[in-house]
Amino acid sequence: MSTATMKLFYNPASPFVRKVLLVLLETGQRERVELETVLLSPTSPSAAVNAHNPAGKIPALRLDDGTLLHDSRVIVDYLDHQHVGEPLIPRDGASRWRRLTLASLADAVMDAAVLIRYETATRPQEKHWDEWLAGQQAKIVRALAEFEEAAGAELPSRFDVASIGIACALGYLDFRQPELSWRKSAPKLAAWYADVSQRPSMLATQPPA
Ligand code: BEZ
Repeated sequence: MSTATMKLFYNPASPFVRKVLLVLLETGQRERVELETVLLSPTSPSAAVNAHNPAGKIPALRLDDGTLLHDSRVIVDYLDHQHVGEPLIPRDGASRWRRLTLASLADAVMDAAVLIRYETATRPQEKHWDEWLAGQQAKIVRALAEFEEAAGAELPSRFDVASIGIACALGYLDFRQPELSWRKSAPKLAAWYADVSQRPSMLATQPPA
């Protein structure tokens, strides 16, 4: 019998959804959540999601009392207060702000990569805005340089909010932008990612083939 008391509005291709799933798995809470698959894009919104989240975005998590949480940062913070292990978001001190800032940069990479995906996959070719695409791509490249710095000591220290976010961002780049070949300019990051990719939580949440 299912022990799920919460529902996650979900799409396996979304890196933000993957972040939430990784937190559920890493904190032993996966069984608490039932998944409801949602197909949406800026031009084909989901009425089911819009009814609960005016922003029309996933992931969104419905709690057992009907409360809806969004976005992924809020959901991750909520779930991190629902387990007894070491927090994935340090509760205080300099590490809290550093790890959250790295996680924010990972979100920025995911945002840029998803926007590029929408622009190139859903807009007609003649309407593509090349300068805008280049601006989004440059953001990703700058962030990868910072992640490469962090891959020396900071990332291997813990698989927490920062490492989870960066792993999701890299997984999404491999999924949607394999031609970027990010490993060429980020060897330490590539070695770190090869290692964390073997975690059961990462293997269980790979984007669809
Ligand atoms: C994608 O197919 O890349 C995607 C799907 C849902 C949310 C974000 C990205």
